[in-house]
Amino acid sequence: MKNDLDNIKNEFLKALEDVSDSLGLEDLRVEYLGRKGKLSQLMKQLPSMAEDVRREVGQLGNDVKKTLELAFTEVSSAMNASEDVARQQTDWIDVTQPGVRPPGGHLHLVTQAIDEVSTIFKRLGFVSTRHPEVDWDYYAFESLNMPKTHPARDEWETFFIGDGGTVQEGKKGKVVLTPHTSNGQVREMEKKQLPIRMININKTYRRQSDASHTPMFHQFEGLMIDKGVTITHLKGVFDYFVKEFFGPEREVRLRPFHFRFTEPSMELDITCGVCLGSGENEGMKCKICKEGWVELGGAGMVHPNVLRAGGLDPDVYSGFAFGWGVERTMVMKSDINIDDIRVLYRNDLRFLEQF
Ligand code: DAH
Repeated sequence: MKNDLDNIKNEFLKALEDVSDSLGLEDLRVEYLGRKGKLSQLMKQLPSMAEDVRREVGQLGNDVKKTLELAFTEVSSAMNASEDVARQQTDWIDVTQPGVRPPGGHLHLVTQAIDEVSTIFKRLGFVSTRHPEVDWDYYAFESLNMPKTHPARDEWETFFIGDGGTVQEGKKGKVVLTPHTSNGQVREMEKKQLPIRMININKTYRRQSDASHTPMFHQFEGLMIDKGVTITHLKGVFDYFVKEFFGPEREVRLRPFHFRFTEPSMELDITCGVCLGSGENEGMKCKICKEGWVELGGAGMVHPNVLRAGGLDPDVYSGFAFGWGVERTMVMKSDINIDDIRVLYRNDLRFLEQF
C-alpha cells in the first residue's frame, strides 16, 4: 500500500511535467485527485486494515494528497498566467470600435395599417376582436340574410373547404374560407354583450387575382349596436376615421347601394387624395378618380333579419356595420402608390424595405 502511494505520487509528478495546457491539467487532476480518482480508490482500502497500519497509511495518504495538490496548484497558476498572456495577445478587442448593427426588420406595411386602423377605432371605444377565418356558411352568408340559393352570394367568390373532393358540411352548413369579415357580425351578437362596438380584422379569401386583387386579403368589419343607434352615428364615425387616417382635408360621401345584410345600404366614398375632390389635376381630368371621389367600402344600418339571427329584437336595438379591405384602404392613402397590389405578398425585400 505504501508502495502504491509512492507510485501514484511519482506518476502524478512526472505526468505534471509533461502536461502542456490547462485542459490536459484538468484531466490529470480528475484522474488522480478526483472523487473517483486513483488516490481515493486506493484509500478505500483503509477500513479493512489493522488499526495501527491504518493510522500510518492514512497519514501517509494525506501527506501524498497534500503534496499532489500543492504541485497541481503551482503548475496550474503558472499555466493560467501564461495562457492569459497568450490570450491577451491574440484575442485583443478594441471595445471603443463601433459595432456591426444587425439588420433590423420592421412590421409589414399591411400590419402597420391594421395597427393604425385599430388604434383609431379604439379611441371611439371600438374593441378589436378576431372571429374565425374558417367558418360555417351560416355565419358567412345565411345569418346575413343570404339564404342558401340566393344569387347575391355569387359576388363573394368563395373557397369551400373540402375533404378529398367532398365539401365539408356540418349543422351550420358548409365550411368556407371567410370571403368577408361580416361573418363576425352574428357571432359578436351571440356573445350577448351589449352595447356592441366591434372591430373585427382578419384575413379574407376570394377566388380572384389581378392587379387590384389577391386571393388572400384583409378586411376590417365594424359593428355598433345599441338602443337608438342611427345613421348619424355612422356618419360621425366615418368622418372621424377618414380624417384621422387619410388627413383632415379629406371629405366623406355616402352613396346609396345594396347589400342583403343592411337596410339602408351604402357605399362610402372619400375625396380623391390627388385632386382633393375637384376631379381635375393640372387642367386635365384627374387620372386617379376622374370625378373627385374614390370608393372606400360598404356600410349600412344592420338589417332586422340579421339582428334577429343574432338573437336581438329589431324593435329595441339598431346598429350600423361597415366592411372595408385593409389593403385597399391603405393604398388609398395619398403617399402610397402601388400599381399592382399583389406585390404586397411577394415578399420581395426591395419593395418591403421601402416602408
Ligand atoms: N362584407 C361586404 C363585402 O365584403 C362589405 C360590407 C358591406 C360590410 C356593408 C358591412 C356592410 O358590414 O354593412 O363586400
